[in-house]
Amino acid sequence: MSNRPELPPEIARRRTFAIISHPDAGKTTLTEKFLLYGGAIQMAGQVRAKGEARRTRSDFMKMEQDRGISVSASAMSFDYDGHRFNLVDTPGHSDFSEDTYRTLTAVDAAIMVIDGAKGVESQTRKLFEVCRLRDLPILTFCNKMDRESRDTFEIIDEIQENLAIDVAPVSWPIGVGRDFVGCYDMLNDRLDLMDRADRNKVAQSIAIEGLDDPRLAENVPEHLLETLREEVEMARELLPSFDRQSFLEGHLTPIWFGSAINSFGVRELMNGIRNYGPAPQPQNSASREIAPEEKPVTGFVFKVQANMDPKHRDRVAFMRLASGHFSRGMKLTHVRSKKPMAVSNPVLFLAADRELAEEAWAGDIIGIPNHGQLRIGDALTEGEALRFTGIPSFAPELLQSVRATDPMKAKHLEKALMQFAEEGAAKVFKPVIGSGFIVGVVGALQFEVLASRIQLEYGIPVRFEGSQFTSARWVTGPKDDVESFAATNKGHMAQDHDGDLVYLTRLQWDIDRIERDHPSLKLSATKEMM
Ligand code: G4P
Repeated sequence: MSNRPELPPEIARRRTFAIISHPDAGKTTLTEKFLLYGGAIQMAGQVRAKGEARRTRSDFMKMEQDRGISVSASAMSFDYDGHRFNLVDTPGHSDFSEDTYRTLTAVDAAIMVIDGAKGVESQTRKLFEVCRLRDLPILTFCNKMDRESRDTFEIIDEIQENLAIDVAPVSWPIGVGRDFVGCYDMLNDRLDLMDRADRNKVAQSIAIEGLDDPRLAENVPEHLLETLREEVEMARELLPSFDRQSFLEGHLTPIWFGSAINSFGVRELMNGIRNYGPAPQPQNSASREIAPEEKPVTGFVFKVQANMDPKHRDRVAFMRLASGHFSRGMKLTHVRSKKPMAVSNPVLFLAADRELAEEAWAGDIIGIPNHGQLRIGDALTEGEALRFTGIPSFAPELLQSVRATDPMKAKHLEKALMQFAEEGAAKVFKPVIGSGFIVGVVGALQFEVLASRIQLEYGIPVRFEGSQFTSARWVTGPKDDVESFAATNKGHMAQDHDGDLVYLTRLQWDIDRIERDHPSLKLSATKEMM
């Protein structure tokens, strides 16, 4: 990965990234401060306030509120210091990982937020691994330094060992917990001091000339001074120093220390994204690599969100522009159906508001309202039959059967389930024999979310029950072989929402046996959505 000097300035100034973290590390707080400095909101607290306003419109969000989890991902755009930041929000709860994984296919970099007292937590590690699969550059923000935190060297060691990545401190904390006064800027030799009295105030930044500068002693409490000097010297000697190339290739992560709630370290982190973060990167397709500076507009759908406004059963497909300069009203080709599609009312998500997008460039995320034509993995182009690669669809790890408590509502239930399947919220399998549906998810909480959404959005009370099956495998191979296999295994066969054949079982042994007895068939745990 590298920044490509030949990029048109409009593309070169874009930064499209996500924040990954374990719940409670401070992602929401950090997002809010980003929006504040990006001028997208005037006052801290608005993201939550707007969230609440949204919740009153859509009862589904009630679950988010009750449980304190974020169910839906969205994208937000704002300007910062001449740059356009596109922040793609990832749902934080581990049960929604599939959605999160897909979100990470739409960004060029990620910010990893960790809690200074807790270090690398389980969810952070999982998400980090996904970033690594894609060699995404990662910037690390160690949050909550205003609380008792671990020793700085210990935190850095833990990240290096746990995640097998080099960590370069670009700031160094001065004091911890109650004693935390700010950071030493390791790259620019500056002192950044936190204002404890005003949480929204930007840190005071003082230029100094190295560790012997008398201004250091004037501004840092005496009892912290010696430790600071020792630690910074040791860090410079023992730890990797920041190397941009290595960062862009995903081998090294720069780490900032701060306190999001006190607005401390946030601006420095944003400057880091602006200065070092990658501009929009080329995207892979089955036939060739798509460079952002190519003139024709291309893009892929990585998320579909339904019922954002329950009054209109609309869906918004989130598309990452891979190349070109898009303008409103453009006619693009929907590659899967080979049909033209006039994109007349695309939406840009400016902070928490939706706004019509007049234009967008490679790297941007636009929302396209539609009635279900657009699905995850779909490509829109100016004619080229592109198939973007890399958006995974995971085999569900949990299966349950679902039925409407009122049998008269069965038909409606089918419609609701199909919609969630298209949205990517769950896998829905219709067994070849019998009635009813089997729903597959990657995390148990998703069953509850689905039940709640089906009730709220479609008015159908449903019951999920244990299924006799525990695994699902997509069956592919020569047509005749697949058909004769399906005919002799009817009790195990089902179709997914695309009509593709799936084999359901509760025994891994079964899968092994079929693979042995039917070498022409392939049983796969994933189905690429593109
Ligand atoms: P998340 O989105 O990653 O789940 O985290 P979120 O920002 O919601 O933060 C989780 C909790 O941590 C919140 O407290 C938040 O105020 C607090 N927090 C965030 N940044 C800092 C920080 O720099 N220092 C300290 N001390 N706390 C921080 P809460 O009590 O759960 O919610 P709230 O009542 O404050 O909203």
